[in-house]
Amino acid sequence: MEIIRTVKELRDRLQAEHAEGRKIGLVPTMGALHAGHISLVDRARGENDVVVVSVFVNPTQFNNPTDLATYPRTEEADVEKLEAAGADIAFIPSVDEIYPEPDTREFDLGPVAEVMEGAMRPGHFNGVAQIVSKLFRYVEPTNAYFGEKDFQQIAVIRKMAEIEGFDTLNIVDCPIKRESDGLAMSSRNVRLTPEQREMAPVIHRTLDESNVWANDHTVEQTKKFVIDTINSFPFMNVEYYEIVDAKTLLPISDWADAEQAVGCVTVYCGDVRLIDNIKYTRRP
Ligand code: PAF
Repeated sequence: MEIIRTVKELRDRLQAEHAEGRKIGLVPTMGALHAGHISLVDRARGENDVVVVSVFVNPTQFNNPTDLATYPRTEEADVEKLEAAGADIAFIPSVDEIYPEPDTREFDLGPVAEVMEGAMRPGHFNGVAQIVSKLFRYVEPTNAYFGEKDFQQIAVIRKMAEIEGFDTLNIVDCPIKRESDGLAMSSRNVRLTPEQREMAPVIHRTLDESNVWANDHTVEQTKKFVIDTINSFPFMNVEYYEIVDAKTLLPISDWADAEQAVGCVTVYCGDVRLIDNIKYTRRP
């Protein structure tokens, strides 16, 4: 596996691959890699000739300086994992390489970027759009892989791709990878204390239970069930729980309002912010 740190080197390296019409898979990450990321690399490996994984903690998507400062950085371990997973190129640039000057672009991402994470973390999705559009431009991938844990992020990236005219690029959503007790894999999980880690699977368990509950309850009742249940456990504090239309990301008030309803939750477990979601499969 090659480690590339500059945009020029990356572009030069990929030129020949493009010229020969080889399929390039891109897996954008912020490092601190876990089995969830590796499942994206595996998928990319199976569907492309060349696999590029970017490892870059993107400052413009953090609206909380402490979150940026404490975000885990584990480059050596990341490189080992990518090598073992069969990635061809690890693109690991510095902040100055990506932002030699401030990126002042404001993307008009519309409603998908305004609700939930968009409302709680102003500027976050604009920052995601900035970095992902840059990566798409540098790599010009055939396929780009994103995990469904960040369900809203995928919708935002699709919107950015539409605005920027990345028409031929295929955005591939990949299922959430979970620990054996159901906790969605996340780079932030390492920050949980042992007691919090023991409690955290209640998030997924409650979402699963709400899928059964939803058969006989309204959207409002189902939301209340999820919020009250999770909040009843130690360390857990729900920031928001919304049930939205999978396409528009807008909250629904009746199950009939969406072909596919998705519940998206953000929970503080102590001071660690965890997110998860569920696709409702109500019986007809
Ligand atoms: O999901 C992430 O890890 C980041 O938001 C992404 C897509 C790599 C952009 O920095």
